[in-house]
This record gives sequence, C-alpha cells and structure tokens, in this order.
Amino acid sequence: MTLQYPTPSPGLELDVEWHKRAVFYEVMVRSFADSNGDGTGDLQGLISKLDYLQWLGIDALWLPPFFASPLRDGGYDVADYTAVLAEYGTIDDFRELVAKAHERNMRVVIDLVLNHTSDQHAWFQRSRTDPDGPFGDFYVWRDTDAGLPHVRVIFPDAEDSNWAFDSERRQFYFHRFFSHQPDLNYDNPAVHDAIFDVVRFWLETGVDGFRLDAVPYLYASEDGNGESEPPTHEFLKRLRAMLDDEYPGRVMIAEANQWPAETAAFMGTADEPECHMAFDFPVMPRIFHALRSQDARELVEVLEEQTDIPEDAAWGVFLRNHDELSLEMVSEEYRQAMYGWYAYDPRMRINLGIRRRLASLLDNARSEIELAHALLLSLGGSPFLYYGDEIGMGDNIWLDDRDASRTPMQWTPDRNAGFSTADPGKLYLPVVQSLVFNGHHVNVEAQLAQSRSLLHWVRNMLHVRRANAALTLGDLRVLRTDHESVLAFVRRHREVRKDGTVHEHRVLCVFSFAHAPVAVEVQLPGDEGAILHDVFSGAAFPAVSGAGGLSLTLGTQGFYWLTIESAHHD
Ligand code: GLC
Ligand code: CA
Repeated sequence: MTLQYPTPSPGLELDVEWHKRAVFYEVMVRSFADSNGDGTGDLQGLISKLDYLQWLGIDALWLPPFFASPLRDGGYDVADYTAVLAEYGTIDDFRELVAKAHERNMRVVIDLVLNHTSDQHAWFQRSRTDPDGPFGDFYVWRDTDAGLPHVRVIFPDAEDSNWAFDSERRQFYFHRFFSHQPDLNYDNPAVHDAIFDVVRFWLETGVDGFRLDAVPYLYASEDGNGESEPPTHEFLKRLRAMLDDEYPGRVMIAEANQWPAETAAFMGTADEPECHMAFDFPVMPRIFHALRSQDARELVEVLEEQTDIPEDAAWGVFLRNHDELSLEMVSEEYRQAMYGWYAYDPRMRINLGIRRRLASLLDNARSEIELAHALLLSLGGSPFLYYGDEIGMGDNIWLDDRDASRTPMQWTPDRNAGFSTADPGKLYLPVVQSLVFNGHHVNVEAQLAQSRSLLHWVRNMLHVRRANAALTLGDLRVLRTDHESVLAFVRRHREVRKDGTVHEHRVLCVFSFAHAPVAVEVQLPGDEGAILHDVFSGAAFPAVSGAGGLSLTLGTQGFYWLTIESAHHD
C-alpha cells in the first residue's frame, strides 16, 4: 500500500515526543459548535473554533467517536468505523479539520472503539444472520448465558447481565457495556485484520493518534475476570509495532480504568512498548478526595508508586471527561465518602460514579477550581481538559445518563449560548439554564471581556506551563512535608543543549488542600541554600535553609510553583 501521507503527519514535523509536551482538549463534535443551524454540532463548527483553541494554548484535540452510529451511547456504538455521521459532515470535512489543525501546530487524536460495535454494524448484522459466513465468528456467541462468569457488569444501572439473546441467530452474544454493543471476538484473527484496516484508514487521513476506548476488555477467558488479560497486551504490542513501523509519531492512548499497576502496564516496557499514554485513573479520584478530606496523603502514596513507565510514555492526567467521574477503582469507604461530598442528590450518581462537571462538583468555588487545575497542569504527564471546563461550565442532572455534562458549549449570551442558530427546542440537548451556570453569564465572550476570568486564568496557566520544560518533560519526586494537607513535589528536566552542556530546570510545586491557611515545612534534602522564585512573577522567595527545610505559608487551598536554583553549581 502506498501511503498517501508519508510520515510525519501532513503539515507537521516529525516529533516522537509531542505527546509528552502537549495539552489535550477533549471536544465532542456534537457539543461544540453548530455551523448549519440544525441543532447539532458538526465538523465545520469545530473548524470555525480552532482559532479559539489555538489562542487558549491547546496542542492536541481528542475527538470522541464521530462515526456513523445510532447514538445510543454518545457514538461509542459505532455502526460504521470509516463513515462520518452525516449530521457531523463528511470525510472531506474531517480531512479539512486535520489540515487546519496541523496548520496551527495542533494535533488530532480520535477515538477508536476496539472492544465492541453497535448492533447496527454490518458485521453484527451479518454475524447474526449468517453464522457460517465470514462474519459468523466476529462476535462472542454462546448457546447459554452462563459463560465467562467472572466478568463484571460495567453499567449496572442499565444491564444485569453480559449476555443478550439474539432472536435471529437464536444464541446469546456477549456484551461488556450496553446490550446494543456486542463485543468483538478477538480470538478471531479476522477481527484483528479488520481493526488494523480501520486504524490504517484513519492514519491515512493524517490523524495523530487514537484514544483506545475500553481497552482492557478485548479478551476474556473462562476463568479470568476479562480485564487486562495477557492476550490483550499482546494485541496492543502488535498494534504499537505497526504504528512504529509505518506511522512513527502517531500515538496510542489507553482508556484503562484499572488499579494503578495494571493501568501502568498498558504503556508496556521499553523493550515491549504498548500505548504511548494511559489515562491516569488512579490519581484522578484521589484529587477530588483530597479537596474535601483536606488530606493529601493518599495522593502522595499513589504518586510515589508511579515511576516505572517507559521513557517515551506519559500519563494522561485529567479531572473530568465525557463520562461519569469513575469510582470503580477505589475502596467502598472511599466511594461512600465521595458520594457524600459530591453526589448528595441521587440523580448525580450513575453506575459507580458521579455524572457532574468540574465547576459544579467544586461548587463553583474559584480557589478550588484553580487548585485543581494547578495540580492537573503540574503533575507528571500531559493534561487533558474537557471542553467547557475552561469557562467553568455547569451540568444538567435532569438529563439522562452522562448527557448531564455533554450540553452545548456556551460561547455568548445570545440564543442557544451562541452554539447554534436553531430553534432552541431543536438542539440535540438543551443549553444549561441553571441559576449559577446558565449560558447568559457563563460563556466565552463574557470571560474574554473580563481580564480576571477563569478563561484568562486557565490560558495564562497553559502558557506558563509551556514555557517551563520542567513542568512538561520533567520527572517528578514527591517531598516530605510536616502537614497532611500539603502535597509537594519537584519536577526536574535535564536539557541537553546543542553544545553538549546540560541545563537542569526544576520547579517546586506545593499545594494545600486545607480549608484554612497553613504553615508548612517542606524537606528539600540536598538543596540547602537553594534560591527560589515564583514562576509567574519572578518574585524571590526565602531560600531553603541550611538544614534543607523550607518554611512556607499557604492561603486556603493555595499553591505555589517555584523555580529552584542550587546554591552550589557543579
Ligand atoms: C468508554 C467510553 C464511554 C462508553 C464506553 C462504552 O468507557 O468512554 O463513554 O460508554 O466506553 O463504549
Ligand atoms: Ca449542525
């Protein structure tokens, strides 16, 4: 096959490290901007907002599925992997999006739903009607619903079994998620070939990578729990090898909501790499827990465990996304505490999680939203923002399922918050109209007009982060403090310049989760006498003491980013 776009991605220079420096922005095509007034966002609408995203400081977009779909799971029910949903536009619109993003040095990552298809997909239709045909074994069929007994139900609010009966084939098929999403049968090599074809199809359009949806679930064995089983990792190694050979610089990002060690395993090892990135599901809920418990110790623990990933891999850190805030991988006690703080109304819960947006979870408290972002933007790895969180958009818990936080982007105080010119009743979902978060006052235009708005603050943070290699590429070392509400770590990057000299960049990051001011001593052994400056203003701070201690005071939910210069140069 001749490659229409030889490496690197069209319009970009080859860069195999871009994902380690990038700020990602998750944007659902349906929710962002409606170019033709039919009430649904579309690719041309998104293209029209690229200037905004560039201004904000976004390096890469992540687009959830925009493929042909009955939309019974926000598009994660794919009916045709290589067709764009007609309401969103055409494949040419998509190519235009990629080209225009690349012109702005912005990359485009798309979702790849590997585990399952919609029951409307032609593969499934042929599988159910022609068991002996070429698609007969594309799905997991059994005569009874007793198989794979140790596999959990992921959407317990909607499903009580992982098996559904098909009246046509008169057999049961296996489904991890909704019953209209049959799981593909990865024991069948023809499924691998079909998926590799899909991957190549999109790489040829110039995309810079894939978020691999629900990736731990590809294989399930009779005795196993069907999560992160060895053949799933084998498959990912082969997919990675194909990318490295044919499309270097394109990345795979794992959505693996697993316990910490299993999540890290999706990045593989230096010798046997898998994904370039994995979402940091272990850290995410612990940030929200710390914000309310005022106790940073669990966060300290999980960050200390997190060191062993290959050199070219990076965590994808995030606060919120298009799904519920998942509490699947925390203890029951932890989960109950989180529900108590953040989901006091039962409508806020779904499955094992909380279906709310960032600003409403944090009760629209600016100091908390800032603290959460400061942490997000300085943790090891690359941050993922969720559209609308940069202006503190709210949610609508009266909508079903996770639609609560998938409402139209709020651009202006005008009709439909500037998202669409359609009759308001025609919108795919209504604009948020709540007292606190309604589009009349929470919108991009109003925040652009106000220099101290959250939007300007977030943008400033992104630009400051970008200018500090320690905050993007640096490693992370957690420091001891004498206050349980305080998290402190150092990010350090050794830059090797062209003349061979090594320059070390270091930033000390300190966060207080306490709901009142605190005084704290941070231990910086080896840094006696080091000089500190505020990253934002350049203002000098007291030096580290001769004993390696640093006394700081922090206001309620305050934080510092301070550059460190050693007193002794070696
Ligand atoms: C992933 C997606 C979620 C979807 C599920 C099933 O978890 O993030 O939105 O419902 O997969 O495809
Ligand atoms: Ca439209």
